[in-house]
Amino acid sequence: MSNALAFAVIAERNAFAADVIDGLSRPKKRLPCRYFYDAAGSSLFDEITRLPDYYPTRAETAILEAHAAEILDGVDEDTTLVEFGSGSSRKTEILLEQAGRLAAYAPIDICGQALEEARARLARRFPELEVTPIVADFTAPLALPAEIAGRRVIGFFPGSTIGNFTPAEARRLLAALRLALGAGSRLVIGVDLKKDPARLLAAYNDPHGVTAAFNLNLLARINRELDGGFDLDGFCHQAIYDAAEGRIEMRLVSRRPQEARAAGRAFGFRRGEAIHTESSYKYALAEFRETARAAGWSPRRAWRDEAGLFSVHELMA
Ligand code: AVI
Repeated sequence: MSNALAFAVIAERNAFAADVIDGLSRPKKRLPCRYFYDAAGSSLFDEITRLPDYYPTRAETAILEAHAAEILDGVDEDTTLVEFGSGSSRKTEILLEQAGRLAAYAPIDICGQALEEARARLARRFPELEVTPIVADFTAPLALPAEIAGRRVIGFFPGSTIGNFTPAEARRLLAALRLALGAGSRLVIGVDLKKDPARLLAAYNDPHGVTAAFNLNLLARINRELDGGFDLDGFCHQAIYDAAEGRIEMRLVSRRPQEARAAGRAFGFRRGEAIHTESSYKYALAEFRETARAAGWSPRRAWRDEAGLFSVHELMA
């Protein structure tokens, strides 16, 4: 491992420890959802996206397949496609198939290995395409490399990841993405829609227990990385819909009074006490447009799947 990589791993571990200590010391315990995605969590999330009840991935894919040409109109050999949180870049392939010639594709992700795997796969499938991966946390202030910033740019932020931020955080992030993409750019962003709560609850409480395993993996990760002593059988997965907030809330609920050590500290739990692990906000079309406007974007077109479950918005800088 290079020194730079070893330093990054230690820095990430320290940040994880600090966030766990802070989150579990609060009167209302919480853990940031970004820690779901270690190798085990990422593979459980992949499994979630294939579950019959988890509609967002399928609905967004259907929108991209049906409207790729429209979404990409005006994109040409001077345009760079920049993706935020690209992971495996699977959905991007749908756009790349339609894109014709592009100046380049710049996937941004915190995970260097995922970027390298995606780059190798895309090089086989689109040998002409210039792929310039950027290892970065796009939620931190981000400056695109000069050779990209000087060209025409289209941003892509699929998956309704924006829903995992509070509305205030989402506005700040959208404003930061606008700054990073620059004047004259546009952003294509996937946003899960408000709908019948029963449909939402089924998506986050799957009968196969995959979402429960994904949620509990957070405690398993604390055990692995922070010398934690959580008994995973002592907690259960819970997902509720808070209609007033317009969000799914995922929690880990203590089945009994217990104590668990993590990062060198001890944390007590009452029976029934919850750790809030994720919020997944849902937006009506007009609500998301309003959020985008508040972040300085001009919303233009929006597409929905046939069942009206999911939306893809086009925002102009
Ligand atoms: C990544 N994110 C948009 C997913 C969501 O639906 O909020 C994460 C997830 N949590 C439970 N299932 C999927």
